[in-house]
Parts: sequence; C-alpha cells; structure tokens
Amino acid sequence: MGSMATHHETRQDVPGDAPVLKSWIGGQWVEGSTGELYPDINPATGELLAQTSVAGAAEVDRAVRTAQAAFKDWRAMPAPRRGEILFRAAQLIAERKEDLARLMSREMGKVLFEARGEVQEAIDEFFYMAGEGRRLFGFTTPSEMPNKFACCVRDPVGVVGLITPWNFPVAVPSWKLAPALIAGNTIVWKPAEDTPMVALEFARLLEEAGIPPGVVNVVLGPGPQTGAPLVEHPGVRVIAFTGSTATGTLIATEGARRGKRVLLEMGGKNAITVMDDADLDLAVQGILWSAFGTSGQRCTAASRLIVHRKVIGELTERLVAGAQQLRLGNPLDETTQVGPIVNEKQLQRVHRYTGVGIEEGARLLCGGEIYREGDCAKGYFYRPTLFADVHPRMRIAQEEIFGPTAVIIPCDSLEEAIEINNDTPYGLSSSIYTRDVNRAMQAARDLTTGIVYINHGTTGAEVHLPFGGTRGTGNGHREAAVQALDAFTEWKSIYIDYSGRLQRAQIDTPSA
Ligand code: UN1
Repeated sequence: MGSMATHHETRQDVPGDAPVLKSWIGGQWVEGSTGELYPDINPATGELLAQTSVAGAAEVDRAVRTAQAAFKDWRAMPAPRRGEILFRAAQLIAERKEDLARLMSREMGKVLFEARGEVQEAIDEFFYMAGEGRRLFGFTTPSEMPNKFACCVRDPVGVVGLITPWNFPVAVPSWKLAPALIAGNTIVWKPAEDTPMVALEFARLLEEAGIPPGVVNVVLGPGPQTGAPLVEHPGVRVIAFTGSTATGTLIATEGARRGKRVLLEMGGKNAITVMDDADLDLAVQGILWSAFGTSGQRCTAASRLIVHRKVIGELTERLVAGAQQLRLGNPLDETTQVGPIVNEKQLQRVHRYTGVGIEEGARLLCGGEIYREGDCAKGYFYRPTLFADVHPRMRIAQEEIFGPTAVIIPCDSLEEAIEINNDTPYGLSSSIYTRDVNRAMQAARDLTTGIVYINHGTTGAEVHLPFGGTRGTGNGHREAAVQALDAFTEWKSIYIDYSGRLQRAQIDTPSA
C-alpha cells in the first residue's frame, strides 16, 4: 500500500465503525482477496467515511469473466434499445442529482455548485449517447465491381477496462461508460481509490435504469493492487484511462506489450493569454474560475497566465485581490468558493511546488501556504497561489501542479504568447482574451491544443464536442462526442456480392 494510505491509517481521529465497501461484480458484492482495507477520507474534515476492501487479481479476473459472459446478450440487443436504457439512466441521474453531488462533495471535496455541474455533465453525456443508439453511423460506398454492395459498420470490441480519476468521479467515467455501452461493450471499471462510494452509487444506478447485471462491473482498490491486473488481463481488449502521466505511460507500455488498445487522457499545463485590448473584467473572472475552481484540480485548469506587458500591472493587481477574496471552507457550505485538496499527499505536492517556484526566482504574490483556520483545521486546504516574474521554462511553468497555483508570464505580442502557450509537454486546453477578431482567429488557428477558448477560460468542455489533448496530454484519442466511439468500436467492412459469379477485386476490374 502507498504512503498515502499509511498516513491515513495512522490518524488518531478515525472511528472504528466506518462501512466496508466491496467490489460490485455481476450484481453482487465481492470482498477483496488482498485482505487490505483502504481508507475513504472526507478531505474537508479528515473524517473516515468508509473503508474499501481492496480487490486483487482474483476479483479482477472474476469481473472480466462476468463481463465476458454478459457481452453476448448486450451486444445482441438492438442499439436503439440500449439507447432507451441509457436514456432512463440519464433521467435517473437527473432525479438523484442532488444526492450524487453531495456524496461527491463529501468524498473528494468539490464545492457543491461545481459538484452539481459535474453531475449535469453526466446527465448530458447519457442523453447524448442515448441518441447515438439510433445513429451509430457507419457508411456505404460504391464497390469497384458491378452488382456488389459495400458498407462499413461499427462493432463493439468486447470487454473494456476503465480506470478513472477522483477529480471528476462522475463526469469522466460517463465520457467512457456511455459510449462504450451504447456501442455494445461490457465493462470492468476501476474508479479512483479516493472516490469509491460515488462510483458504486453510480454503477448501481445504471443497473436500476435497466443495464443488466454483469454489463458494468466495479472493482475497488488502488492502481498496483487492482488497476494493474485489469491492464494485464488478456480478456480486456481496450483500456481507457484518465489520470497522471506517470501512470498513463506505464499503462501504455503494458498495454502495448499485450497488443491492447489504450486510450489515455493525462496532464495539462493550460494557459490563458490576455492581450492588451482584452476586456479585463471578463478576463479576471475567467482566470479566477479556471485557475482556482475545483482548487485547480482539473486537467483543464489554467495554471499559466500569459499577459501582455501593457496590462500586466493592472491585471495582476486585480487577480491578487480576487484570489485573496475567495472563500475557503467546507464544500457542502453553499457560500464556499474553494474546497480542499483531495488528500494529504496531494496537498504536500502542491506545497512543494511553491518551494520550487521561490527557489527558481519567481515572486510569490499571494497564497503559498496550507490553510488550517476555522472549519478548515482538519482538512487539506491550500490558499489560492499566484506567482509573478515567471520565465516560461521554469519548472512551475512547465510541470503540472494540479492545485490552486497559477503563474504569470509576461509577453509583448500575440506571436510570442502563442509560442509560449505551445511550448510545454502538454496540449489540452488554451484560451485567449482579446476584442480583436483577427487576433482571435489567428490564435484559434495557431494554438496547438485539443481545445481552444476565445474570451472564455480554459475549463468548460461540453459533451458533444471531442475532449482531449495533443502532445503529452494523450495518445491521439478523444473522449465524449461521437469521436469517443472510435475508442470503443472496431470498423467492420462488409461486401455483399449479388452478381452470382466470381468477381475478383483488382483482377477482374474492367480496365479504364
Ligand atoms: C478534467 O479536468 O479532467 O471542461 C475534466 C471542463 C470539465 C471537465 C474537465 N467539463 O473543465
């Protein structure tokens, strides 16, 4: 077990009667054979919510076999019928929106209004993919031979393994679950070890909506114990992963060794550019939201601000004032604007980066400290942090921090801003504030990220547009939108010869 778990287990304020969470396989609770218990902690209060019975290779194998057995019938069900089930799931998620949001908030610390927004994203995704049940478009194309018909259809791949993060414990799984399901695959899902309860709640809701037992199976536990056997299992054809670059790279390597398709969604170092003609009121709002929403724990968080020198003084002043006014507190309190960091390990990591920035010679403008005042005393809170005088090649301007830390980098022109924006190992999202349509169009063309926003921060993806990034953010796949179907289907080309004679392609083709 990792150091994080050891830390939690040694806490003094842990009551002994927290429920034990088990894996959910074929509609049954299954205890983990590892014998380990992993703590599920409320990051705002330090309260032990539950303990997870950690699944190992035996439970993963059982889940994969269960999913394999369920595949035949699920695949055979007409896609419009599967779509109706997904539609019912969307309706049920909508009915339970508040409960799911509150559970998520307690389990991983997202403030309530953001948690509600995240559940809405799942509702949107399920409604959207329900509609795909009556599309799942393939194509037809003329054959080169007479009296021969050619078309192409999408086939499910079989059993799909999902490994999902704690920062979007409902929306990100939905981007994978809904397309995989509508295409006719069955699933073994390993949610993040920090958010098992909301995952179980979600999986059981799917069954209630009509997804047959065994089609979606949940195995609980950390990566080494539970994720690794899933990646290694020969019965799993596709692994779809969202999380850290280190883990994603490992999964890609292990997957490649076994000839699997691996879909990766990893880090970001997203930038907002503010030009000298920008609406600064709008830019300040967009930056505070993108940098400090979800305490900066989003793949799409803005952690670099590339600001034209003509407005850098005024913008910096307003950002510092805005950041200092943000209310930290219990995420279940409706007035809280910034919640905790997910766990102690991440909190320490975020704080270490403040040290790195100071050592590199950047100027700390605000924040830069762990916050333990008032009702935040027992949680993992970090003050919104801004650095100035940052060089684009500094570590704090290149490495993903995944916390409420943003750095301000000066620039003199649009061309320079674009160059800085594009020069990181990641390529998820970027944004520019300008009132000049020519500059906006140039930026939209030349920013080399998977997502570009004009006069809007770096977060706020909608489910019917593809989500994903270039460079080290991913490996070329996209989630959400119809493009997500590409990860979970195989193209099948079908030739129907109705000539009644042997027609040899290429050979019997009449010459021109
Ligand atoms: C993520 O950060 O992993 O665009 C997902 C957004 C959200 C999803 C982010 N709709 O910020």
